[in-house]
Amino acid sequence: MSAPSPAVSRPLAWSARAWFVAALASQWIFAAYITWVLAWPLLLGDGEAVNRTPLITGHVAGDTLGNASLLGHVLAAAVLNAVGLAQLVPWLRQRFPGWHRRAGRVFMTLALVGVATGLYMTWLRGSRLGDVSAIAISLNGVLIVGAVVMAWRLARQRRFAEHRRWAIRAFLLVSGVWMLRLGLMGWILVNQGPNGNTAQLDGAFDVLWVFGCYLVPLAVAELYFRAERAGPAAQRATAGLLATCAGLTLLGTGAAFAFMWLPHF
Ligand code: HEM
Repeated sequence: MSAPSPAVSRPLAWSARAWFVAALASQWIFAAYITWVLAWPLLLGDGEAVNRTPLITGHVAGDTLGNASLLGHVLAAAVLNAVGLAQLVPWLRQRFPGWHRRAGRVFMTLALVGVATGLYMTWLRGSRLGDVSAIAISLNGVLIVGAVVMAWRLARQRRFAEHRRWAIRAFLLVSGVWMLRLGLMGWILVNQGPNGNTAQLDGAFDVLWVFGCYLVPLAVAELYFRAERAGPAAQRATAGLLATCAGLTLLGTGAAFAFMWLPHF
């Protein structure tokens, strides 16, 4: 997940790295999809191409504010997914502290852009599949703002251990949208079809996962933070959990790639 401290056992450090590599590959694929399939055509003014993807509202002729929000949203999302994980690499932080600071400011600013445009599209433009998922992603947005503010303030106060934990939480919250897709598609793959899923995202599994996509990663991160300071048994158990998360991330990525992204490239 991030900077293994000296007390971290090898299995825990390696399982964190395994999850990191799986997530990096996955987020780069997602960033490529967002850039190529959504952001680029929107920049060229090709609304028709974008509307062939499963967006909720997409591009609407004459809706300047709505279209600008969508463009700002996907541009922010592309950058967040492309570079976000690099902020967690200890080697990069230590080697290039100036870069880490600048990239951190960019990440936090774009996260806030993503939340502001997302809230606008959900509640004012009417881009929502259903009320439950709209509430879940709005809560995700509010938590993003809270985690970004905490990470930012702690960095300015040079309280770096706490900053690291809040920055990881901010990253996982920003990644909720990505995790939502991996979880839904992975679930549909494993079940060989929808099972507790609806088009309004209010089936039993949907309701669990629209909140779980950011609450479960936050809970795993808390276990990891505790394991860093715990004994060998807790470290081994957490290592097993992170290795499982790495496997599930790969499974979800394969399913999201096959069902959601590849058909639109
Ligand atoms: C900051 C983290 C976020 C990222 C990285 C992100 C990413 C994305 C991406 C990639 C899409 C395109 C979906 C696709 O085609 O698969 C999208 C769409 C959307 N997002 Fe976000 N999002 C974030 C936060 C939010 C928040 C907090 C909200 C609402 C409160 C939100 C609301 C929306 C809406 C409504 C759409 C659909 C727009 C449409 O269909 O016209 N997003 N988001």
